[in-house]
Amino acid sequence: MKNPGKVTKNIILFVFSMAVYCLVYSIISRQTTEFLKWWTVLSILIILMFIAKKIRACINYFTSGDSSGNSETENMILHDKIKPKKMFYNQKESQAINTLNSLLSEENYRKVLDRLDSKGMRKGFACLFTGGPGTGKTETVYQIARETKRHIMAVDISQTKDCLYGASEKKIKGIFDTYNNLVGKSEVTPILLFNEADAVISQRKELSDHNRAIDQSENTIQNIILQEMENLTGILIATTNLSQNMDIAFERRFLYRIAFDKPSAENREEIWRTLMPDLPEELCQELSKKYELSGGQIENIARKVEVNLILSNNILPMATLLQYCKDEIHSSIDNSRKIGFTA
Ligand SMILES: Nc1ncnc2c1ncn2[C@@H]1O[C@H](COP(=O)(O)OP(=O)(O)O)[C@@H](O)[C@H]1O
Ligand SMILES: [Mg+2]
Repeated sequence: MKNPGKVTKNIILFVFSMAVYCLVYSIISRQTTEFLKWWTVLSILIILMFIAKKIRACINYFTSGDSSGNSETENMILHDKIKPKKMFYNQKESQAINTLNSLLSEENYRKVLDRLDSKGMRKGFACLFTGGPGTGKTETVYQIARETKRHIMAVDISQTKDCLYGASEKKIKGIFDTYNNLVGKSEVTPILLFNEADAVISQRKELSDHNRAIDQSENTIQNIILQEMENLTGILIATTNLSQNMDIAFERRFLYRIAFDKPSAENREEIWRTLMPDLPEELCQELSKKYELSGGQIENIARKVEVNLILSNNILPMATLLQYCKDEIHSSIDNSRKIGFTA
């Protein structure tokens, strides 16, 4: 997705460079009148672009409640743009997800808010999805958003780290301000998604002399998020691959937690069937029994197969399919070694 904010910045930067170029050129060639003419044209262009940027910020403000201009709402995922996807869960997850879906339906969500309010309790609804890569955490957030008709404000938390002192803290505060503003303006409360929030909810660091400044900044970010979660009025969903080593203070703040496991053999069969509907029935069964793959891995294979079919005249050698399965198993073993999961 193109980021309109970045496009505007790049255009301004380009026009500004042209202006500097004109200035240098006219000084070198001593053609001051020519320079003045171009300089005026480029200055007017820069001013017009600034005005356009401000107008866009105002439109954002009135349509989605964002006043930052450099808006986080550019990362909005609109519920009606999310494609429906059939998900297959193990029984435990299935129950928890159904309950969450039902709680987040507008009617029930209002009741939850009223109830918490009447008891004088905090109204923020924070959920945590944990589980290995490819187990469907992110997709589940999308599907819940689609079903409950909630837009998603997605935040890439790793992008909020800024080497400038105090800048990360400002960014985090800015995210929550933007979101709270959005909640105030929206008829249906959107979801704030912290995808892959491992760094945020991992244990806060003991400060040592080594890397002190970085650790302190990370701890400050975590403290701000903890505080903002206390004041949260909307719905926050965080996803993480971490299952242990979670900061206890964060654990307490999540009202609802769902642990995603790898799919059972039966579910794997369903996923194979859904993602590769042309696969013969017996092969679906065989692959699901033989390879303990996650949904994400099966999707990777399905995509590789689609690409391969273009080159191979719609014929896929069996050996290639099996090789893709083995590759996925091996890459997951390698990754689990790197991030400390057991294979
Ligand atoms: N339980 C599942 N049922 C069906 N498809 C799944 C499931 N889990 C994962 N997938 C497939 O894998 C893709 C990637 O999953 P994703 O949600 O990104 O995993 P995670 O966020 O846990 O790493 C999904 O878009 C979906 O196509
Ligand atoms: Mg994910």
